[in-house]
Amino acid sequence: MQHPLNQSLVSMPESLTLKITGRAKALKKEGVHVIDFGVGEPDFDTPSSIKQAAIKAIQEGKTKYTPATGLPELKEAVINKLRRDNQLEYELPNISINCGAKHTLFNIFMALLNPDDEVLIGTPYWLSYPAQVEICGGKPVFMETTLKSNFKVTPDHIEKHKTPRTKAFVLNSPCNPSGMVYTNSEMKELAQYLDNQDLWIISDEVYEYLIYDENSHYSLARYSSSLKEKTIVVNAVSKTYAMTGWRIGYCAGSSEVIKVINTIQSHSTSNPSTPSQYAAIAALENSIDDVEKMVKTYDRRRKLMYDLLKKVPGVSMRPPEGAFYAFPDCSEMIRRKGMKDSVEMCKDLLEKYQVAAIPGSAFGVPGCIRLSYALDDDSIIEGIKRLHTYASHEG
Ligand SMILES: Cc1ncc(COP(=O)(O)O)c(C=O)c1O
Repeated sequence: MQHPLNQSLVSMPESLTLKITGRAKALKKEGVHVIDFGVGEPDFDTPSSIKQAAIKAIQEGKTKYTPATGLPELKEAVINKLRRDNQLEYELPNISINCGAKHTLFNIFMALLNPDDEVLIGTPYWLSYPAQVEICGGKPVFMETTLKSNFKVTPDHIEKHKTPRTKAFVLNSPCNPSGMVYTNSEMKELAQYLDNQDLWIISDEVYEYLIYDENSHYSLARYSSSLKEKTIVVNAVSKTYAMTGWRIGYCAGSSEVIKVINTIQSHSTSNPSTPSQYAAIAALENSIDDVEKMVKTYDRRRKLMYDLLKKVPGVSMRPPEGAFYAFPDCSEMIRRKGMKDSVEMCKDLLEKYQVAAIPGSAFGVPGCIRLSYALDDDSIIEGIKRLHTYASHEG
């Protein structure tokens, strides 16, 4: 007889994103011209100076273990970055280097959560937050936001949803999938409220540099020293420097919580890949020009995508402000087609018009779809043209 597996995990549903992207991949393999708006990573190559730093490290024999929670030189580069870009002061015991921000977040939930502790998450959310909270024995509690309010969480949402079991609140700006960016005054309002709450704040800032127009990034941790003590800042080199495959993420927080995170990591993965850590130092210290070029290109694609999308019948949306996603509300189109939700619509769209989009249900908002604009102009034009035709036809 087989020994039973962890039942809470066996019953966890398969990721909706994977289902759609898997089918899109299969169609592409058959030679079908699929326009894939499902991608969650930059389409640029990693800048060559960053690659060179890793090659140099390998050639110099820097290919062995580093300290389990990262090279002190990389931690110093993170400290300098947080000071330079976020006006935040930290020391070495406040920093942990991990295998991508996904791993950083997992370590954080492991460190914070006791069984049945609740974690407040605004909808739409990055789909791994609730899954990770559940794996770590906690309970995700969703706070519904709407297109009308720009998909932003306010103190009222938190006040309404918090209970004596609430342990943490996750904030993600710029947001995947909504593409929204919290303004300075919205951050201030949240900061004033959260300063008086007994909560940990997990501030996921992985899209920090991918910001357009007059928007700027404000880290919640910088509004007061007491708030900084309760906030764990999460970031990575993945999205900013087109380094998703290098797997370097990091966090900064009180030494008390970082110590627990470090213990977890020392018994699970140990250090992130050593050459990747050297590459990350080069990225954080010297690659802002490369980032600026990529941001300019994303910005052009963002405008193109928005201009085309807003003309599609049955779609309502706001211009994306950050990251590389558009998150149009397609409820009207879904209703007109007599469909249940965006899952049904995305499946139909892929089969009939070979356009892959991620259903908003994956992010807690069934009426929306997520379209990445980390792809070339021609694909964006062709993909939205197909979506437009799809939207214009009955059934
Ligand atoms: C909001 C958000 N946080 C964290 C991550 C994880 O990033 P990484 O590739 O560094 O693990 C992602 C990746 O898609 C993301 O969108």
